[in-house]
Amino acid sequence: MNVLLIGGGGREHALAWKISQSPRLEKFFAIPGSPGIKNFAACVENISIDDNAALVNFAKANAIDLVVVGPEAPLVNGLVDALNSAGIKAFGPNKDAAQLEGSKIFAKRLMKKYGIPTADFEVFDDRDAAKNYIRSKGAPIVVKADGLATGKGVIVAQTLDEALTAVDEMKTFGAAGNKIVVEEFMNGEEASVLALTDGEKILPLIAAQDHKRAQDGDKGLNTGGMGAYAPAPVVDEKISALVEEKILRPTIAALKAEGITYRGCLYAGLMICGGEPKVVEFNCRFGDPETQVVLPLLQSDLLDLMAACAAGNLTDEKLSWSDESAVCVILASGGYPKSYKKNLPIDGVSKAKSLGALIFHAGTKIIKNHDSERVNGELVTSGGRVLGVTVTAPTLQEAVDKVYRCVEVIHFNDMHYRRDIAARALK
Ligand code: AMP
Ligand code: GLY
Repeated sequence: MNVLLIGGGGREHALAWKISQSPRLEKFFAIPGSPGIKNFAACVENISIDDNAALVNFAKANAIDLVVVGPEAPLVNGLVDALNSAGIKAFGPNKDAAQLEGSKIFAKRLMKKYGIPTADFEVFDDRDAAKNYIRSKGAPIVVKADGLATGKGVIVAQTLDEALTAVDEMKTFGAAGNKIVVEEFMNGEEASVLALTDGEKILPLIAAQDHKRAQDGDKGLNTGGMGAYAPAPVVDEKISALVEEKILRPTIAALKAEGITYRGCLYAGLMICGGEPKVVEFNCRFGDPETQVVLPLLQSDLLDLMAACAAGNLTDEKLSWSDESAVCVILASGGYPKSYKKNLPIDGVSKAKSLGALIFHAGTKIIKNHDSERVNGELVTSGGRVLGVTVTAPTLQEAVDKVYRCVEVIHFNDMHYRRDIAARALK
């Protein structure tokens, strides 16, 4: 099978690593790819992942059998529709189905209509009306931009003042913040359950827990995710069954009833409140960094499964899992999720690998044509989240101990990471 992977973050590096283990893989390309992905796939940097027509042409010209779409933006932008119209199979939902992530209002209304458990909410396009509603409800309360805002369009306000300010801040998200969702604050333990689906059958992956806040103790700003571990013990067998029965199956069925077939990875961000899972959000793609801990534990052939999702012929086969635990620590640029420096040299990646870590590149680049004062071939930082360091071990405690030993040998200026990944599960 000839495969084209779209994206170049840590999630896509983990996908490339796993896909490359499949005996069915023949040619492998990535657009744009990354310094990590280039070890598995030919990376093509001169095509934009927003340019559907150019991506379709590339897929045709290279006899691609399956396009795997990593990030949400091209999914929401209708890339899968464009590929399918040209007769090319793709792993990932079409534009209508991707609204589940692309519009919080679409997702919330679908859940309400079909009785899928989630926080109570109201939708506003008038800021004053939103503020009046917030005053009537009091804090804590949650304010969200409707559209895509790279994980930053959500403010969990602890006070009334914060919530009122949040309504005005939604303006900074442009069109994504024209409409606002105000929702009930849910108190509980968060978990992410990713599931593979062909629009009929659903295969949930093992649960993971992300750490969204920038600082230890879940303090600081929300980020794309500072680390993760799997399996997450908060999703025990009972919760896992509830997630499948009350959330995943009804959501795929609800979409179907609305005339939408969802194929790809359905990501349910959950809050476990008093033994009951509720939906915080849906994403229409693999989670990042969750993918960096879930895939190292998956023993089944991912490419086989993705091809079956895209073709609509997923079977009931049980997925096969390692019985180890995985932990991923994200090494971020100092200042992230706000502004940060780039082009800082990274040391110690090979040393960390020799200690047994999997290193997934999220925001790195290799200096070419010395486009700064650096030397050609040097690995430098190029994003907020720079590297994911993942370790698997027989127990979660061993994985945590080992992952921090690996993290300590990596260095770049202003490097920032959380020191308490998985601490809650170990308590
Ligand atoms: P989202 O982008 O919708 O996943 O929200 C980002 C983060 O905000 C979530 O991972 C939660 O930590 C938090 N959050 C969102 N909605 C709620 C809610 N209704 N109650 C409590 N926390 C929430
Ligand atoms: N880890 C959060 C996300 O992928 O959206």
